[in-house]
Amino acid sequence: MALQISATNAEHPALLLELPWQLPLEEWPEKYLVPLPRGISRHVVRYARAGDEIIAVKELAERPAVREYGLLRDLDRLGIPAVDALAVVTGRTDDDGEPLEPVLVTRHLGGSMPYRSMFETTLRPATINRLMDALAVLLVRLHLAGFAWGDCSLSNTLFRRDAGAYAAYLVDAETGELHPRLSDGQRDYDLDLARVNISGELLDVEASGALHPAVDPVEFGNQICGRYQELWKELTRTSVYPAGKYHYIERRIRRLNDLGFDVAEMQIEHSSNGDTVTFVPKVVDAGHHQRQLLRLTGLDAEENQARRLLNDLESWMATQDDYSPGDRPPGSQLRSSGGHPHGARPEVLAHRWVRDVFRPTVRAVPPELRGAMDPAEIYHELLEHRWYLSERAQHDIGLDTAVADYIKNILPKVRETLRPTAE
Ligand SMILES: Nc1ncnc2c1ncn2[C@@H]1O[C@H](COP(=O)(O)OP(=O)(O)O)[C@@H](O)[C@H]1O
Ligand SMILES: [Mg+2]
Repeated sequence: MALQISATNAEHPALLLELPWQLPLEEWPEKYLVPLPRGISRHVVRYARAGDEIIAVKELAERPAVREYGLLRDLDRLGIPAVDALAVVTGRTDDDGEPLEPVLVTRHLGGSMPYRSMFETTLRPATINRLMDALAVLLVRLHLAGFAWGDCSLSNTLFRRDAGAYAAYLVDAETGELHPRLSDGQRDYDLDLARVNISGELLDVEASGALHPAVDPVEFGNQICGRYQELWKELTRTSVYPAGKYHYIERRIRRLNDLGFDVAEMQIEHSSNGDTVTFVPKVVDAGHHQRQLLRLTGLDAEENQARRLLNDLESWMATQDDYSPGDRPPGSQLRSSGGHPHGARPEVLAHRWVRDVFRPTVRAVPPELRGAMDPAEIYHELLEHRWYLSERAQHDIGLDTAVADYIKNILPKVRETLRPTAE
């Protein structure tokens, strides 16, 4: 059987051909490999270089490889944060013609950390809380999309920094199943697996002596379920309002947006006597601010980073002479449609902000000092620093001063802690 690389994206197969497929993954020479931290796994997993890209290669049987590839593509289509599936390689044989296991190739998720390396230093309970929040949000998003994970755990999740919090990505979809929608029983089952897995993983960390003494592994497993339930309820519950109080509906939608979710459809029903209105949102998509930032500025950031950047963009816009808030309702995020008869369109202003404010600010920080932080995270740090200095000075010290101070006084000290393992 000949080597076969199946991929939907045509640019990758050629680069993949240069890898030593005739060798078992465990025997790949170092020149092909990238030594980045990996989580615990059943299969052999290695990171390798393919052109400019770092890829993760996992050896497993053909059926599960093809299945996982398909599921990861589905998750991508559904806009769920998960690793990108690039290819399945089958028909591998060694130099003696003996068959080798197929592999699944995914794109290495840049800036991500497996939880094991985060726990190399003892994490503060507040940090663990943020990790759990991110994981609860991910599980809710998966369930809203009809995806039962089947093996939600810390090992199967990757974390990325997100403006002081974390964003969680699914890395292992092997046990997943995609349904049109999940029953409560299916969700409960999945959540219970998550609870048991996570408590077990934290118990392991405890046994290795790296868990903060204030953290109770079993209690933490329960807490993550609590967080999941709260969020699920907020996103899906039915509200009943007095007739005529339509602004309550608007308010509920805003609250959902604040949580980062968009409402795709809604069902509004009047009671038979006309006294009340029942409102059921169909929340499908997280990433509300992410999408808004992308549409306005072309910047691709995590959800919390995007919220932060949009706030900054909005306050900057208000200082521009050709800005007209138009019919924008107070508190709403920047809308692009209608209501800007005298001023520039938000997209135009937003691009000016990227060009004149965002990029120059980020570029002012020398790249070698930025460490693993991406531009949105750097910008967030600079905004934090500005806020801190302004509080101390009791007046706004401005972004330029904040940047200069950050480079001079903060970066040299935090370079060490910019390593992903520390807070
Ligand atoms: N695309 C990727 N980007 C970053 N890390 C990855 C990627 N794919 C796998 N990993 C790392 O490899 C580990 C094992 O991968 P996983 O798919 O969970 O294997 P298994 O099915 O054997 O459990 C993960 O915990 C993660 O740390
Ligand atoms: Mg796994």
